[in-house]
Amino acid sequence: MRRAIIGGTGIYDAGSEVKSGQLVTAYGDVTYDVMTVDGQEIIFLARHGKKHNTPPHKVNYRANMMALKMLDVTHVYATCAVGSMNDAYEPGDLVIITDFIDFTKSRAQTFFEGEDGPVAHVEMTEPYCGTLRRLFCEQALKSNLQLKGDAVYICTEGPRFETAAEIRMYRQMGGDVVGMTNVPESVLAKELGMCYAAIGVITNWCTGIEGKHIEGHQIAESMEKNKAVITQLFIAVLKGEIDESNCKCDRSLIVL
Ligand code: HPA
Repeated sequence: MRRAIIGGTGIYDAGSEVKSGQLVTAYGDVTYDVMTVDGQEIIFLARHGKKHNTPPHKVNYRANMMALKMLDVTHVYATCAVGSMNDAYEPGDLVIITDFIDFTKSRAQTFFEGEDGPVAHVEMTEPYCGTLRRLFCEQALKSNLQLKGDAVYICTEGPRFETAAEIRMYRQMGGDVVGMTNVPESVLAKELGMCYAAIGVITNWCTGIEGKHIEGHQIAESMEKNKAVITQLFIAVLKGEIDESNCKCDRSLIVL
């Protein structure tokens, strides 16, 4: 059994052994790193590739998640850069993603395409694992890391940013933050029966909220600043015991 971090930094604990690997899946090839902490293997997967050269709409989400499954991963934490349209969440803040609304357009969202295989539907009462969310909050409290609150994530297709009119609409729908990567990543994790949780790093105000231009360097700097801290907390949780008795993540798939 292994655990994984998607989008975490390459900042690994000094003294722990890090190995790189590559895996061929039915959907494409995936490279990853493995670190062993206190006897627990933790996989690091760079969602956009190690050179960060795959845009959100072209990320091979199915290959990434299938590779984790082939590596026997059961628990996944992910970081994601998000814009804020909630006045309470400012650039630099961290939020726990609790639900999503999907506005992606062209992405393969399932491993179950019918044809010769079964038809399956994944249950979405709790899109993000409650146990992993709780453990992250407890660890943040112990480490004095402030989490601003829960957030509903609007997933857009990208790679363009949203218009001000779109943001007004998303806000009215109940969205708090906007990003381009959490769907289908979270959905595919559920299809594979994994526990999956995502932490949003607010990198900017959404278009039209403060009337300011979105600056690329601000997004990159904010992610770099926060990712190292978040990654350390992820590792602290993932290397320990995880009680799954209240968790239904491995029973969300309904096969007809
Ligand atoms: N919109 C969509 N994706 C994002 C944003 C945004 O404002 N910021 C970081 N990722």
